[in-house]
Amino acid sequence: METINTANTAKALKNKAIPTSTVGRGRAVKEEFTPDSAVWSDDLLHISLGNSLDLYDSWDTPTAIISDGGYGILGFDGDTSDHLGLPEWYEPHVAAWSRHATPRTVLWFWNSEIGWTAVHPILEKHGWRYVNANIWNKGRGHIAGNVNTKKIRRFPVVTEVCVQYVFEARVGGVVLKEWLYDEWKRTGLPMKRANDACGVKDVAVRKYLDQGHLWYCPPPEMFEKMQRYANEHGIPGGKPYFSLDGGKTGGTAAQWASYRSKFECPHGVTNVWERPALRGSERYKTNGFNGKALHLNQKPLDLVSRTIEATSDVGDVVWEPFGGLFTACIAARDLGRRAFGGEIDPTYYYFGQKRVTEQRPQTRLLWSQGFLRVPFEGWLHSLSRIVLSTAWSFCRGVLCSVLYP
Ligand SMILES: C[S@@+](CC[C@H](N)C(=O)[O-])C[C@H]1O[C@@H](n2cnc3c(N)ncnc32)[C@H](O)[C@@H]1O
Repeated sequence: METINTANTAKALKNKAIPTSTVGRGRAVKEEFTPDSAVWSDDLLHISLGNSLDLYDSWDTPTAIISDGGYGILGFDGDTSDHLGLPEWYEPHVAAWSRHATPRTVLWFWNSEIGWTAVHPILEKHGWRYVNANIWNKGRGHIAGNVNTKKIRRFPVVTEVCVQYVFEARVGGVVLKEWLYDEWKRTGLPMKRANDACGVKDVAVRKYLDQGHLWYCPPPEMFEKMQRYANEHGIPGGKPYFSLDGGKTGGTAAQWASYRSKFECPHGVTNVWERPALRGSERYKTNGFNGKALHLNQKPLDLVSRTIEATSDVGDVVWEPFGGLFTACIAARDLGRRAFGGEIDPTYYYFGQKRVTEQRPQTRLLWSQGFLRVPFEGWLHSLSRIVLSTAWSFCRGVLCSVLYP
């Protein structure tokens, strides 16, 4: 574990001008805590006290970015008072993410519905392409009959969104959709021959070469088929076609795969995540899992783990720019990913650092919810079933001989 003592960092950050109009009301713990060190790391996790804008350049290239920042509800010091301020609040971060992202990077953007909608144009502007909005439904228990609907004059809100974006891939500055089309045109072959190339009836022309919203990114093996056909039958002067190595050779399936982000959906999961709000022992408190709740925005470890597991592999890098209590960093580490997180508020950082060092209860929670696997789990499970059923057959035999001699 590395600990760098920078006692003055906390003070310096506190003294930085934070617009008064954006002072938060959400901190449960009023006292201020100063961490001993501004950096903490172990083999997989690296967290810092500071403004993430100053940290991004020192972090490794991300495969997944878990953003859980401003909601426009004065939720923490520096959050804006409504969604209108969010585009400006997020833009420098979004621009930085784009500078560091690759076509394999996925962004999970947590927010309220209106907060996300306000920031969406900024994400699009900086090259993030919308994939899917996932709704976290906390259920009726979240309001527990406490809402006066006559007064609020709307249906009570029990949801948040976690929106999946991918970073738009480009070849030589041209987006994939246009590049595929341009490459095929360069071959001089009629469009419909793309179907022959891929061995499909009409999918290639209708989807892979479509220039509208029907465009569908060809799977790696289809890309390679198109490439081979194009280089075999296309005008000789223009070869190689579909090159991904700067014009030396035609691109391979493996090269094409590196232009797409990973996605694996666990069986039965949809975009509606039914899951109660954090309560009880899940909420990190002043004294570990006892005492006063620390951060009103702490996210459920299981939901965050789901997003990380779906879009990254062991060893990949996960960023958590708005750390709070570093839920995403903990989830990432538990899943064998490498995590980088930043938190600007010294008190939250103090407790976040404490939490990452007291990880065991969290790990236990993940295990209990099936997110972590014991080594040889499948094999052990089968073995335990065999042992139990053998024991049961034996007991049944004994019982049978006693009851019906
Ligand atoms: C919504 S909370 C995140 C909660 C977190 N997901 C968790 O589960 O604990 C957002 C956090 O981002 C922090 N923050 C805001 N701006 C920041 C910045 N520029 N750099 C680092 N942290 C920032 C806030 O202090 C706050 O604790």
